[in-house]
Amino acid sequence: MQPPSSVHAPVLPAEVMSFLAVRPGMRVVDGTLGGGGHTRLLADAVGPDGLVIAIDRDPVAIDRGARELAGLPVRFAQANYCDLPEVLDALSIHAVDGVLLDVGLSSDQLADHDRGFSFDADGPLDLRFDPTEGEPAWRIVNRMKPESLADIIYEFGEERHSRRIARKIAAVREKQPIHSAREFARLVVSAIPRQHPPSRIHPATRTFQALRIAVNQELKSLRIAVERIPERLVPGGRLAVISFHSLEDRIVKQAFQNRQVWECLTRSPVEAGPEEVAANPRSRSAKLRIASRTMGFSAA
Ligand SMILES: C[S@@+](CC[C@H](N)C(=O)[O-])C[C@H]1O[C@@H](n2cnc3c(N)ncnc32)[C@H](O)[C@@H]1O
Repeated sequence: MQPPSSVHAPVLPAEVMSFLAVRPGMRVVDGTLGGGGHTRLLADAVGPDGLVIAIDRDPVAIDRGARELAGLPVRFAQANYCDLPEVLDALSIHAVDGVLLDVGLSSDQLADHDRGFSFDADGPLDLRFDPTEGEPAWRIVNRMKPESLADIIYEFGEERHSRRIARKIAAVREKQPIHSAREFARLVVSAIPRQHPPSRIHPATRTFQALRIAVNQELKSLRIAVERIPERLVPGGRLAVISFHSLEDRIVKQAFQNRQVWECLTRSPVEAGPEEVAANPRSRSAKLRIASRTMGFSAA
């Protein structure tokens, strides 16, 4: 069955395009194809003489992109963006003029009830971007020691009730293994004190985010990617990273402080303005940082 059309709105589109300074004929990588919004903008900017290499771990995003962006100068690769050098090798491309990473989860993944990303999904609590790789979240919550679960929920979700949630998981799974996303979201809600006034976000948001980051080893991928990308950028080539989590933003900020490799073009991160936030609430927590590869850097 064909995946439904994308419902994902790209964040900070004008800012990304202006900072990446993409011109006709350039070769650029979109390391996070998602719903294809940024890829389409990049493809229009590079034109028929240029190329966009669109990567995503999610095979559904790749299928959809190949269908919806047919006819544009785009090549697709189902891969982890930290394997960008291998993706370029397979296309016999040594270096590119720019790379975009818009990390995390897409609205399409959130809307797909079989993937477990949304709180009201009857489907299994899977949370993997690539469902053929690694361990689904439901298996982790059923097997991991409560102390380790609490650490993940605290570290990646910044959830102050992490220990209560982990204790509740341990108590519930003793009776019956946890399986669906909806069941898990209810469990989390029942474990934490009710907030007054109620929070803007669903009480299980931080816990889902933490498990998703752990299951997909998202911080590790980002750390490896920012380390490896300079080798495959032309001198002066630019890397733009949009992150949604303080731990991700810290990785990018610290990497860009290495002056031998990067000239940072954004002293503080670029954020969405009120109009974009009103139209696309996801953009509220987006932080964009851009740097260009220094002329002097040479890969080891
Ligand atoms: C926020 S969405 C990207 C949205 C996209 N920029 C657009 O305009 O529609 C993030 C996408 O990155 C993918 N992703 C996350 N981590 C990845 C990784 N390490 N390697 C490749 N793709 C990844 C997810 O599967 C998801 O489709």
